[in-house]
Amino acid sequence: MNAKLFSVALASVFCTFNATAQQAPTADQVVSALEKLGGVHPGERRNHIIGVCVDGSFVGSKDAQAFTRSALFSGAAIPVIGRFSLPGGNPKAPDTAKSPRGLALQFKLPGDSLHHFTMLNVPVFGAATPQTFYAGLLSNMVDPATGKPDPEKQKQFRETHPDTKPLGEFMAKNNPPVSYANSEFFGIHTFKFINPNNQTTLVRWRFEPEDGVKRLTDAEMGTMPARFLDDDLIAKTQKGPVRWNMILTIGEASDVQNNATVYWPAERKTIQAGVLTLTSATPQKGADCEKINFDPLVMSDGIAPTDDPILLFRSPAYAASFVKRLTGN
Ligand code: HEM
Repeated sequence: MNAKLFSVALASVFCTFNATAQQAPTADQVVSALEKLGGVHPGERRNHIIGVCVDGSFVGSKDAQAFTRSALFSGAAIPVIGRFSLPGGNPKAPDTAKSPRGLALQFKLPGDSLHHFTMLNVPVFGAATPQTFYAGLLSNMVDPATGKPDPEKQKQFRETHPDTKPLGEFMAKNNPPVSYANSEFFGIHTFKFINPNNQTTLVRWRFEPEDGVKRLTDAEMGTMPARFLDDDLIAKTQKGPVRWNMILTIGEASDVQNNATVYWPAERKTIQAGVLTLTSATPQKGADCEKINFDPLVMSDGIAPTDDPILLFRSPAYAASFVKRLTGN
């Protein structure tokens, strides 16, 4: 092969490689990768496997009605079933793990319609696209030669995926919470609020714990038992209700709406949009939240998704995990 032909052949190999690297994974591929990392635990979630169920209610504030006609903000108490969780599919992951914590809420609106918020306790996500999310999972696979993930592969993944940086920086500075009741939770994605006049506003939101955000110290990270979060919440709700304020950030038309790794400008206006009150917490086995698929695209009229590729990818991925666990796989 002459030099020119060789370089054309080489270029086409690289183009093919790049196209493959860029291709969006399927939901099944991502769930299989989660299974390879966390193991298969029949009947259980393939991600966020460890969790605790909660019950309570949400009262939306009338200030939010200027932005959305959703029944969530009618001012009436809306019954809520929720679930706090640790990420990953490994049931042995400790409560001190330096990873995000989850809070999923299912609101029961009048007329039997439902709305879901499925949040994490970090302000940004670690991937702008399903491609990055999948590549991140692959980079964490155990190397059979060492029995551990290959640090070189992980480093190379981070270097070639700058969208992982904002979450990486946040995690480096913020230890996990001492209690679910002392953790804030963020919707992370940008959503659309649609008001009675059909006007659309871009919004983001977070839930702030009434008892304040409290994190484990570095020393406590080494001394706390492997499991304490669920029992702590069960005990707290037995003593009295535990509350969070929902804070809504009002976006501007120019704000990033399809990339959950990018912060909005800090000066955006916020309003108090409601109060979540949790009155009981129970181990997840057999409790109400266990069999719920907290798909974040389950929404009431007046709230709509943006075209954030991660938000849109979550729905089929959750369905793939849900089908497996419902069918006992
Ligand atoms: C490509 C990105 C993502 C993928 C592939 C993914 C995948 C999954 C899967 C498969 C489950 C288990 C579903 C089930 O069996 O019911 C799950 C649960 C969960 N995910 Fe994600 N996720 C992604 C992004 C996110 C983001 C951005 C958030 C938060 C904003 C989030 C928060 C949660 C929470 C809180 C749960 C637990 C829900 C529950 O308690 O049932 N995930 N995820």
